[in-house]
Amino acid sequence: MSLQERLNESRVLNANDENKITSLIKDKIKNGKYTFNTNFESKSEFKDKLFVLINNELENLYPSLKFFINNEFVEKILSDIFGLGILEKYLQDKDVTDIFIQDKEMIIIKNGLKTYLGEVFDTIEDVYLVIDRIKTHSNKIIDQRVPFLNTDLYEGSRCSIVIPPVSDKVYISIRIFNCLDFSLEDLLKIEMFDEKIYLTIIELINSKKNIIISGAMGSGKTTLLNTMAKLIPRNEFINIIQDTPEIRLKEHPYVRLLTTRPRSREIDNEISQDKLLFETLRMKADRIIIGEVRDSMAAYQMLQALNTGHNGSFSTIHADSSLDALLRLETLALEYKPNLNSRVIKKIISRSIDTIIFLENEMDANSNIVKRRIKEIALLEKDLNERGDFKLIYL
Ligand SMILES: Nc1ncnc2c1ncn2[C@@H]1O[C@H](COP(=O)(O)OP(=O)(O)O)[C@@H](O)[C@H]1O
Ligand SMILES: [Mg+2]
Repeated sequence: MSLQERLNESRVLNANDENKITSLIKDKIKNGKYTFNTNFESKSEFKDKLFVLINNELENLYPSLKFFINNEFVEKILSDIFGLGILEKYLQDKDVTDIFIQDKEMIIIKNGLKTYLGEVFDTIEDVYLVIDRIKTHSNKIIDQRVPFLNTDLYEGSRCSIVIPPVSDKVYISIRIFNCLDFSLEDLLKIEMFDEKIYLTIIELINSKKNIIISGAMGSGKTTLLNTMAKLIPRNEFINIIQDTPEIRLKEHPYVRLLTTRPRSREIDNEISQDKLLFETLRMKADRIIIGEVRDSMAAYQMLQALNTGHNGSFSTIHADSSLDALLRLETLALEYKPNLNSRVIKKIISRSIDTIIFLENEMDANSNIVKRRIKEIALLEKDLNERGDFKLIYL
């Protein structure tokens, strides 16, 4: 066989080559070198394109060799790279915080603004294809009997799906994970608070105050919590209890992430916030972070834990003001301990919580959030006032 003939002979790609090509193509897509039509293109069209791309990469890597590219590899790379089709592009975009799909239409929230993208799917089957992928990844079920699916996507974003006939259309709502990653300086720069509050927050963290962050949905509670948690000294044991792994603290060596688990058709033993809190107390955590307090037993136990010497804990609660946050906490605790009177609970709260931060959303005329701001920082006195109410000092 002549050299030329040997060069013309097609080689089969080995696993190493396949991995190399896959990551090269992925990188180029991420960096915008290979841009695609934002439409979720039909699979066959896409496959042809991919075939060409793979060939290009191989030619670059091995200019004098010929390869046989088999169908399985193209299929694999197809689902690997475009696992979630058009969603991928937005999942990677740091300015996009939410994705909503209603049948073939898509709406995103980018930099706080709702943007209607129109019909981005050609057919409803394409939408179900995306659902199929999400379902496969989650090992959960969504079908006519259980028309809901709540799960995490592979990169941590929270996704919930409802399908007809429960709803009039297919609804997919995604809260994107990587949008919560700010530093305290970033938040200062975008004027979530001023320099004085910035220094106050650092002081509160360092002096191990127990802090409740309150506000409406989407007001940035979890973002602020995450940002503050990053400033906790690295040598502390931090237990984080949350419903979705939103807060991760990659830089901290002693962080323990605990995630609740609702009861579902597949798994019937629920793991609730209070169970995780109970475990946390046994794990001797230096700090306890509860993503969002919403469970009455957990609220009560959290207060007890903070009351008995756990300092420097952070959590968030849905509320309309600093005072409302305390009242919500009181209501939750009373729900669990109805035989205690309100004054006793208020006392426990006053002894447990040191500071409440309240966040406010500024809306435009179309109900888009245009700015998130710390509106109140209140210190809670250890003792109630003479009427038995909370004593708050607003900074
Ligand atoms: N100061 C801010 N400026 C701009 N966007 C923010 C700010 N704080 C939070 N966000 C974004 O707003 C969205 C909602 O924030 P999140 O912390 O999840 O709110 P909450 O926990 O109150 O529901 C997130 O996607 C986040 O990236
Ligand atoms: Mg939150």
